[in-house]
Amino acid sequence: MSSEVTTGQGDRRPTREELDAMSPEQLARLAGELDEVEVVHNTPKFPIPGTRAEKRAERSVALWFVISAVSMLAFVVAFIAWPWEYVNAGEPGHAIYSLYTPVIGFTFGFSILALGIAVIQAVKKLFPDEVAVQQRHDGISDEIDRRTFVAQVTDAGEKTTLGRRKLILRSAGLAAGLAGVGTGIVALGGLIKNPWAEGDDAPLWHTGWRAEGGETVYLRTDTGILSEIARVRPEDMEPGSMMTVFPYRESERGNEEELLHAQRAGDAAVMLIRLRPGTQVTKRPGQEDFNYGDFYAWSKICTHLGCPTSLYQAQDNRILCPCHQSQFLATQDAEPVFGPAARALPQLPITVNDEGYFVATSDFVEPVGPAFWERPKTT
Ligand code: FES
Repeated sequence: MSSEVTTGQGDRRPTREELDAMSPEQLARLAGELDEVEVVHNTPKFPIPGTRAEKRAERSVALWFVISAVSMLAFVVAFIAWPWEYVNAGEPGHAIYSLYTPVIGFTFGFSILALGIAVIQAVKKLFPDEVAVQQRHDGISDEIDRRTFVAQVTDAGEKTTLGRRKLILRSAGLAAGLAGVGTGIVALGGLIKNPWAEGDDAPLWHTGWRAEGGETVYLRTDTGILSEIARVRPEDMEPGSMMTVFPYRESERGNEEELLHAQRAGDAAVMLIRLRPGTQVTKRPGQEDFNYGDFYAWSKICTHLGCPTSLYQAQDNRILCPCHQSQFLATQDAEPVFGPAARALPQLPITVNDEGYFVATSDFVEPVGPAFWERPKTT
């Protein structure tokens, strides 16, 4: 059959009936001829099936697939069950918590590495040695080319002898399947969490400004030295100025870990702004007493995508977010007046205590930062 078929203008090509009558091997050979592929050399790795050397090679490939599968399984278990929630240094469970990232990184990485080694070994140890030369073609493939291509791929697959190697197929299937599961978990696992699971105590509902155990929460500015506690007083700020502040409790004094945690929390940063005297502010209903005189504290986390709204322009009382140029008007209770942000910056209720320091009278009364599921719009 193959002798009748050649490529090039004027050459006869097989009809549909002739194609239907061809065996997979004939179709594969035809594919080579149509594509002007010349097999220069093809030697099976194990011409006699079932030898000890062949079984050894097969076991070694399967072993790497199994190692990959076990490693991915360990990753899935660690990802789901390993204690990942933050534990302070020195507290029980800190060592286990700090191993979370290395463990999931190592198990996932090792699984992919083992999978790669298994595939390379399968090709090197089991596939036939073949050298083929093919001419390049331009244009779209016709039906003959498409059908013979499929046959050629099938034929090539059979020549690799993988079809009869059940051990390798099963271990490879296991490893590849678990790799898929593991990759899916990496992509989606972090999203599978019920934010309401802890009720009113859920992390999405409160920030570091929440008073715990009746302890006063001060407004502290960052001096660059963690152990240097600088609580803020009204006289520390000029009219028309802005200061970034973080929550601070006296119980944190001397505890660098706690201080760092309070300062680094993604929703902790607050802009304390002292408006110029006489500036009129439209206050939000229910939040009329959140300010202290001309001092207003708004979350520094932009309600668009969470960048720090680091710029305060005293001339026109605008708070600017440098990321996508949202602007919030301090005199309209930090409502957005320009840019993509659609929601006002949440305001932190503040006052000055008997010692003369600024303190938060409660946590934010609405969620900080970009919207998450079903968050009500309050303005
Ligand atoms: S994050 Fe502030 S404007 Fe986009």
